Amino acid sequence: MSELIEGFLGKSIEGRKSRLPAKLDYLQSATGLFLGLFMWGHMFFVSSILISKDFMYAVARFFEGSFIFEEPKPGLVSIVVAVVFLIFIVHAALGMRKLPANFRQWQVYRTHMKMMSHEDTTLWFIQAITGFAMFFMGSAHLFLMLTQPSTIGPFGSGDRMVFMWPFYLLLLLAVEFHGGIGLYRLSVKWGWFEGENAKQTRATLKKVKWAITVFFLALGTLTLVAYLKIGLENIDQNRVGQKYAPTTQIHEIYQAKVRA
Ligand code: HEM
Repeated sequence: MSELIEGFLGKSIEGRKSRLPAKLDYLQSATGLFLGLFMWGHMFFVSSILISKDFMYAVARFFEGSFIFEEPKPGLVSIVVAVVFLIFIVHAALGMRKLPANFRQWQVYRTHMKMMSHEDTTLWFIQAITGFAMFFMGSAHLFLMLTQPSTIGPFGSGDRMVFMWPFYLLLLLAVEFHGGIGLYRLSVKWGWFEGENAKQTRATLKKVKWAITVFFLALGTLTLVAYLKIGLENIDQNRVGQKYAPTTQIHEIYQAKVRA
């Protein structure tokens, strides 16, 4: 009966409102923080290609358990992807609660945004749009990584970039804007780094946010171009679909042949 009353009035018979929305907000922040920090790590790992093919190969093999096993175990990558995917789905499901649900709500929001002309309100709008785009693009990328972890490597990732670069470019833009704004909003919402003067802190945080976004966008674009270049070289040299052999391995094979 009390549930029925709360269902109609939005308050329990003791006059209390449910704490569930606050708990869900907390979970949304926690999953968002995890994904934001994961993306920083991810970008550094993926950009290892800017140092050398051998280095990216070593990073990819590391995630396949090269520090324990002789043979690469791509299944380990799938496990990590599955965990990230699960957190991604929870975060997206919680984010969905905040999106305007019909034309009227969009109209009210946009009018409010234009009238306020307040940067943080506009940032929320960008976050909603990029979040929606990531529902599809993030899922597609994660599904690919989940089901084909053994293709990750200098050559495999390069081959993929040849036909998928427009997709990755859009995903990069969506991720960096969404993640950057998200981490900034988290800091403001939970009062992290708040000093004596909240206004001043917010202005500084905003500058840091833009600097981080520009940095990761530049790093991401350079990385994308590096993979694309390798993919095009693979086409040129007729080795599409081949696995990359690190320099040390080639050197060992050569030495063995010389000795034989
Ligand atoms: C554990 C999970 C993940 C793994 C193993 C992974 C792996 C990779 C790899 C290997 C690449 C290079 C291209 C390729 O081989 O296809 C890449 C690129 C990329 N990934 Fe992920 N990824 C993961 C999760 C995510 C998530 C959650 C997002 C965001 C929704 C994301 C966004 C991107 C973007 C934007 C690029 C392009 C990078 C660039 O342009 O420099 N990834 N990822």
